[in-house]
Amino acid sequence: MMGEQERGPGEVVWSEEGVPLAPAYQDVYYSRSGPGQGDLVFVEGSDLPARLASGEAITIVETGLGLGINLLASLRALVAAGRGSMRHASVELHPLTPAVMHEVHARLGRMDAETTAFLSVYPELLARGSASLRIGAHTVPLQLVVGDGAAALRQLDLRADAVFLDGFAPALNPALWSPEVFRELARLARPGASIATYTAAGGVRRGLKAAGFDVERCVGFGLKRHRLAGTRRPGGA
Ligand SMILES: C[S@@+](CC[C@H](N)C(=O)[O-])C[C@H]1O[C@@H](n2cnc3c(N)ncnc32)[C@H](O)[C@@H]1O
Repeated sequence: MMGEQERGPGEVVWSEEGVPLAPAYQDVYYSRSGPGQGDLVFVEGSDLPARLASGEAITIVETGLGLGINLLASLRALVAAGRGSMRHASVELHPLTPAVMHEVHARLGRMDAETTAFLSVYPELLARGSASLRIGAHTVPLQLVVGDGAAALRQLDLRADAVFLDGFAPALNPALWSPEVFRELARLARPGASIATYTAAGGVRRGLKAAGFDVERCVGFGLKRHRLAGTRRPGGA
């Protein structure tokens, strides 16, 4: 696949439906059915609202920060819960420049407090690999490793409570859905950690299972019939 593995800033063009698309992968940054994918697949799929409402401190690890849509959906869940706490760590091979990130969100037109807070720390996150995002009474530590899939995940040292698996379509972006990536995610995920992804592709299901995750098919978002949600099996693969 052209562009895959090569570092470089993420590019964004707009699909006919008005969805941001990465030309190097010929795929959209989120579902053509809308950014609500972040809420259903990742926030609901990880049961974040209930977990936060119960006061849980949740460390999220995500493959592909992209536009930060899933991070923003998670922040909104945190603010709505008014309890619990959150940290977010992600890997990204093609981070958007701050200017492009700003342009994309300006065009998407949801400049709420969460988006403004994210955009204000994004330059620091990109430059230093970490930043502290403040929203309401919450301080949310953010970490970003710029690099390729498994190698980038290897640089993280944390115990994840929730895994967001969000590359471009597996057939177009195999490096982010590899057995090595799944193994690294299994290393980072604590026993019982949740895992969520928008795809239910057989290879992804089998790969996650082999790495130590139990996943089930659930009703998908928009045009997708199914997605996957599950947990890290206790006791390894
Ligand atoms: C579907 S988009 C992610 C959308 C994002 N989660 C969001 O909420 O906006 C997939 C992301 O994975 C990144 N990516 C693709 N291949 C990668 C790789 N080998 N390693 C790390 N990131 C990669 C892309 O640059 C893109 O930003």
